[in-house]
Amino acid sequence: MKRIGVLTSGGDNPGLNPCIRAVVRMGIHFGLEMLGVRRGYAGLIDGEIEPMSARSVGGIIGQGGTILGTARCPEFYEPSGRRKALRTLNRLEIDGLVVIGGNGSLTGALELSRMGFPTMGIPSTIDNDVNGTDLSIGVDTALETIMDAVDKIKDTATSHNRAFLVETMGRNSGYLALISGVVGGAEMVLIPEVETPFEEVHRLIEDAYIRGKPHCIIIVAEGWKPGMEALAEQLREHQDDLGFSVRVTRLGYVQRGGSASSFDRLLATRLGAAAVRELVAGHGGHMIGWLKGAVALTPLEEAVAFQKEIDPDLYELAEIMSI
Ligand code: F6P
Repeated sequence: MKRIGVLTSGGDNPGLNPCIRAVVRMGIHFGLEMLGVRRGYAGLIDGEIEPMSARSVGGIIGQGGTILGTARCPEFYEPSGRRKALRTLNRLEIDGLVVIGGNGSLTGALELSRMGFPTMGIPSTIDNDVNGTDLSIGVDTALETIMDAVDKIKDTATSHNRAFLVETMGRNSGYLALISGVVGGAEMVLIPEVETPFEEVHRLIEDAYIRGKPHCIIIVAEGWKPGMEALAEQLREHQDDLGFSVRVTRLGYVQRGGSASSFDRLLATRLGAAAVRELVAGHGGHMIGWLKGAVALTPLEEAVAFQKEIDPDLYELAEIMSI
């Protein structure tokens, strides 16, 4: 292998820049020419590709976002889009591609590898829903952001004796909500993986009030049905029985921004470096993840086959801790 490209794709998250830096510098260490693809698969289709040097990734380890830009690219879902991307790779004589992103982006890497092009995936999404890795890059920092927000919400909730619904991101995964419920000391966690009827939420808020809790914090994963707004509306209709009055906060995109935590920088550096090493060793078609405290290779088709499950013990722990 002589030339390797790197791209970031899908939703951004803290840790992308440290990962790009690691990929580029490890490639240079191996004597490879490194190329950066702008705007994910969209840039691959349009040929927006530029040389990367050790200096071009200097000073980015502490920067949020991605210096390469990112995009969701419907054109790449089509075989014609993927053929265009492959033509760009061949025209520029690129021998391998590192794809940093979540499930959709890794599925793209799998498609390219099925077309015979060597790709290596790196899991990077705040949703933490990718198989073959205990943690994806960005999750730790997002959790720090959420925990900080929940601590602050708890201050105002306690002062006013209020119940708060706090919505976290995560698409169809309840991981962020569950962990932030445990570390933020929430009274309840609502996640897509567990069906919770309205009556149960109502009862819990009422009980918390009767037991003398000064606040009631409920973390709602964005994928939980019927959703935070619908729940808030129902609760407001029963305001008089609840004890607490209800307020709502959607944390939104703040969860995806900011400088990566030390854990995420280290994870990004390890996975970025290992991705290049494994690609050069001829292990394309895999994802490099972090399992039981070590880097681990998983075939891309396994990594994206189904959504990673949440830990039922943690869900139970969240309940026990909320008494
Ligand atoms: O996958 C990351 C994520 O932030 C999800 O948690 C969220 O549902 C989605 O992306 C939002 O996507 P977009 O950036 O396209 O609005």
